[in-house]
Amino acid sequence: MQSPFLSLTLLNAHSLKFLTKVNQKNRGRMKNLIAGNWKLKGSQNLADSYLNHLSENKPVNCTLLVCPTFDLLEYISEKWSQDFGFLGAQDCYHDDSAFNEGLASADKVARTGAGYIILGHSDRRHKCQETSGLVRKKVNLAWKHGLLPIVCVGEKSEERKSNLTQEVVKKQIIESIDFDHLDGSFVIAYEPVWAIGSGNIPTMEEIGIVHDEIRTLLITKIGSHQGKNIPILYGGSADSNNAEQILAVNNVNGLLIGGASLDIKGFGTIINKA
Ligand code: 13P
Repeated sequence: MQSPFLSLTLLNAHSLKFLTKVNQKNRGRMKNLIAGNWKLKGSQNLADSYLNHLSENKPVNCTLLVCPTFDLLEYISEKWSQDFGFLGAQDCYHDDSAFNEGLASADKVARTGAGYIILGHSDRRHKCQETSGLVRKKVNLAWKHGLLPIVCVGEKSEERKSNLTQEVVKKQIIESIDFDHLDGSFVIAYEPVWAIGSGNIPTMEEIGIVHDEIRTLLITKIGSHQGKNIPILYGGSADSNNAEQILAVNNVNGLLIGGASLDIKGFGTIINKA
């Protein structure tokens, strides 16, 4: 098995900076990664309000990641400072050799200056019927183009009710990441489908159980040293009221935030608390 840290030459400057931060965390506590996923929302006004806020309030204690729509990614990246953190994209097409109309390739994403890419989000898995096999192809393409994939996993409400949460999450991770041919590093985001945009979240104990299971799986797959240093984010109705509590849970290394990232004031509070 290849080490995710052996292929550093494939990673771009953003990713390298991130990995340096991750490695620094080996000596202390892992720095939280706070990621805003604007989904199809957002505007140039929101981008400007982020830029204004961040120029006055640079994130100190956490690593910030902002994932706008593709058009806004280009807009914001022109004014982005590395002191603010990182930019990321939402999804890419799974084949960069084909002549496909209207889709963003991993190559195009990397050219915007993005360092990360969200893959396997529940919107893609369930609204666009994307399989873990497809997500795996995208993860490989992300690595090829020097992007750090954030691989999203999470159970549906009926799976939770049938006590299948851990089984579903582990299967999605195993099938979405080619552990036998790792060509870069990655981040996992645990996002229960039923919690996304609903205002409902699992109990802290439930989050802890799933995150511990994910950590154990990663250690089994890639060894203790690397497995312990893969950030595992929680996502699903995280906001300024519950962020601190969720971040205190063992093996929660950050948040992937949708709705609450559309207001920089509230999101700024989360950045400060992280
Ligand atoms: P909400 O924070 O709006 O629940 O969305 C979570 C999410 O899907 C982030 O990717």
